[in-house]
Amino acid sequence: MNIMIIAVHPHIGESRVNRALSAAAMEESNVTYRDLSAEYPGWDIDAEKEHERLLAHDRIVLQFPLYWYSSPPLLKKWFDDVLTYGWAYGPGGNHLHGKEFAIATTAGGTWNSYRSGGDNEYTLSELFRPIERTIKRCGGIYLPSFEVYGAMEITDDRLKQEAVNYVRFIQSSALALAH
Ligand SMILES: Cc1cc2nc3c(=O)[nH]c(=O)nc-3n(C[C@H](O)[C@H](O)[C@H](O)COP(=O)(O)O)c2cc1C
Repeated sequence: MNIMIIAVHPHIGESRVNRALSAAAMEESNVTYRDLSAEYPGWDIDAEKEHERLLAHDRIVLQFPLYWYSSPPLLKKWFDDVLTYGWAYGPGGNHLHGKEFAIATTAGGTWNSYRSGGDNEYTLSELFRPIERTIKRCGGIYLPSFEVYGAMEITDDRLKQEAVNYVRFIQSSALALAH
């Protein structure tokens, strides 16, 4: 399986968690790792290049730190620019059919806070509904997310373990992830 990680982090120089996850994932021989923030500093996304990259991969992992209950804005722009009419949806827009998509995110809040009754009220699954709908609207398969909570207080040991978990996640079959 060819896997592409599309990572967006506006301040990767200050990142601890995403950097560790990325470093582990990059070691995998079937993973193409892309730092979108570095690739498009002016946010001028090359849709044609993105289409080629998408066609060459079976699974796409969207990796980002949670910013205001959503992704950093460059990922939203990537959706807007790349998932075009006649390519990703609409007549002839079937190029993403059957491709697997998953979110990998890091959140400052705790797992306990991301549920009914918690400080953040909603689960990340609920908050990511617009991305889920976008993927499904384009005929993609939306997989369960990889989530790291309490990202600002994470210990070195847990971070090491999360990096191992992340690699296991990106390599797991859709069936294993969904069950
Ligand atoms: C602009 C901004 C918005 C953020 N919004 C949230 C949020 O809505 N929920 C949350 O749990 N953490 C939020 N955080 C915390 C980040 O998710 C956290 O710092 C990040 O996941 C840590 O990963 P890193 O070490 O790779 O930067 C926010 C941080 C910033 C800078």
